[in-house]
Amino acid sequence: TSQYQNILTSRPADGVALITLNRPKALNALSSPLYEELNHALASFDADEGIRAMVITGSEKAFAAGADIKEMKDKDFSDAFKNRFLENWALLSQIRKPIIAAVSGYALGGGCELAMMCDIILASPTAVFGQPEINLGVIPGGGGTQRIARVAGKSIAMELTLTGRNFTAAEAVSWGLVSRISDKVLDDALAMATTIASKSAIAVQAGKEAVNVAYETSLTEGLRYERRIFHGLFATRDQKEGMAAFAEKRKATWSHS
Ligand code: CAA
Repeated sequence: TSQYQNILTSRPADGVALITLNRPKALNALSSPLYEELNHALASFDADEGIRAMVITGSEKAFAAGADIKEMKDKDFSDAFKNRFLENWALLSQIRKPIIAAVSGYALGGGCELAMMCDIILASPTAVFGQPEINLGVIPGGGGTQRIARVAGKSIAMELTLTGRNFTAAEAVSWGLVSRISDKVLDDALAMATTIASKSAIAVQAGKEAVNVAYETSLTEGLRYERRIFHGLFATRDQKEGMAAFAEKRKATWSHS
């Protein structure tokens, strides 16, 4: 029996954790209780030595149809401000292990933003993305304007934010928001997570950290940061093992340290 009411967790393959958003009656609307459980599960898997990659998914019909509108409709400014509404969504971006979003159906508003916080997005051909907040008299509050602008540029970010129109998986791929489209998106995400989990966990986490620096800094600083992390990896067992295994024409056995 699960300790969670709004999500399901499992370990479908060696080193891989799966988190399934599970509020089917609300199309996985991201209520506060759901988000607390998601954060708890992410932090637990991040601390779990047996897990080296994670996948977040929803249902066929909905990855997540946004923040929970019924929960937030009566909020006022002082309540939103004082309780730091949505600030706890940022925990996901502190997670060190890679997180893949497997998106089918609706990924709207906060659902789209949750997917964009993940490290890699795979989308089913049925996926429907969008930032429809403008239709509710607000704007995205979970990073939508910033993450779309950084990846897809100003014109697209403006169009999506100001019209609130939905966009397809094919558009998302063409903008670089999504890696690829798959008609068995969860299987493919789990296969990708299994591949990542088969690498040295310390190198994988270093690689994630280095790529993320590209969004926060200048190229010169980013290149320096990458090189420093690269140098640091020569202090790991897995660097010795990986390069020895290559020279000896055998498969590496990672200690993840
Ligand atoms: N919050 C709360 N409940 C939601 C919801 C949401 N975001 N999305 C869907 N639901 C509920 C519906 O109210 C409905 O509940 P009832 O059966 O109790 O009426 C149930 O889920 C099923 O939804 P529909 O009957 O609407 O299903 P549909 O197939 O006709 O339509 C949909 C699907 C087009 C996705 C439609 O549900 C919809 O437009 N949802 C809202 C999308 C949206 O505006 N998301 C942005 C939210 S704001 C946000 O996320 C802020 C932010 O930046 C963090």
